[in-house]
Amino acid sequence: MRRKIMKKNAVVTGAGSGIGHAVVELFLDKGYRVFAIDMHREQILESTQSNEQEDFFAVELDVRDAEKFSELAAKMDEKGGCDVLVNCAGVFCGNQVHQAHDRDYDFQFDVNMRGIFYATRALIPAMIKKNEGAIVNISSVSGLRGDYNAPLYCASKAAVIGFTRAIALDYAQNGVRINCVCPSATETPMFLSGTNKNVMDSFLSALPDHRLGKPTDVANAVYFLTSESASHINGQVLCVDGGLSAWNGQPRQDKE
Ligand SMILES: NC(=O)c1ccc[n+]([C@@H]2O[C@H](COP(=O)([O-])OP(=O)(O)OC[C@H]3O[C@@H](n4cnc5c(N)ncnc54)[C@H](O)[C@@H]3O)[C@@H](O)[C@H]2O)c1
Repeated sequence: MRRKIMKKNAVVTGAGSGIGHAVVELFLDKGYRVFAIDMHREQILESTQSNEQEDFFAVELDVRDAEKFSELAAKMDEKGGCDVLVNCAGVFCGNQVHQAHDRDYDFQFDVNMRGIFYATRALIPAMIKKNEGAIVNISSVSGLRGDYNAPLYCASKAAVIGFTRAIALDYAQNGVRINCVCPSATETPMFLSGTNKNVMDSFLSALPDHRLGKPTDVANAVYFLTSESASHINGQVLCVDGGLSAWNGQPRQDKE
């Protein structure tokens, strides 16, 4: 008798736009059952060609809501539990620290960091039980070094890297690998909506390959880190930035 092969379950936050959307599409293509999370169900459904059926669920969930993650974990346990978690939900507010409000701090730390904490706390027990699983957190090159006008965003993204490295140590013995992906400027509403032509030109000139990242560039890196090909890669930071983070900031010294 042929054994039925169980589909693996992936949870993707920030699934209604940009990088999260690209991750959802790739994991569906790779044969995963995907639980796509965002603030509004309609946004998730509008952003994808996939209809809700046995292998695709649009979940309206604010990543700042710990209880909703517990409910999701219980629902997923009936379907075999979470195998892969990709934390893409994120927000950015630019300003200098002397102009920043408490709400700018709370907003960015609550979505960018607390959300990852809640998702991980609720969903990693299923992975521990199976002795297998992978988590990828989307940080940013802004979490590695400073950006002008973005102290709170940079700090929240640096926190994601610290969290990733620490839990990678804790759960390696449980067969769970946790890694980080750090994009630079990527063609998504987050970057495109707040960027005027001058800033865009500066980015295109600063990026060594002179192009913005595509959401699929980031999704491919995420998929690699969750795959068998990355089975001995844990607690690492993979930049998807066209080489930007390789630059030390010194100007070019062209020969005359
Ligand atoms: N686009 C870039 O240039 C860039 C660069 C570096 C890092 N990043 C990071 O990549 C990740 C994805 O960003 P993107 O560019 O695709 O942005 P995006 O704005 O296109 O998508 C982010 C998604 O997260 C969702 N979201 C926001 N708050 C949420 C919450 N509380 N609960 C649930 N969902 C929520 C939004 O509704 C949106 O659909 C973010 O963490 C971002 O910080 C983006």
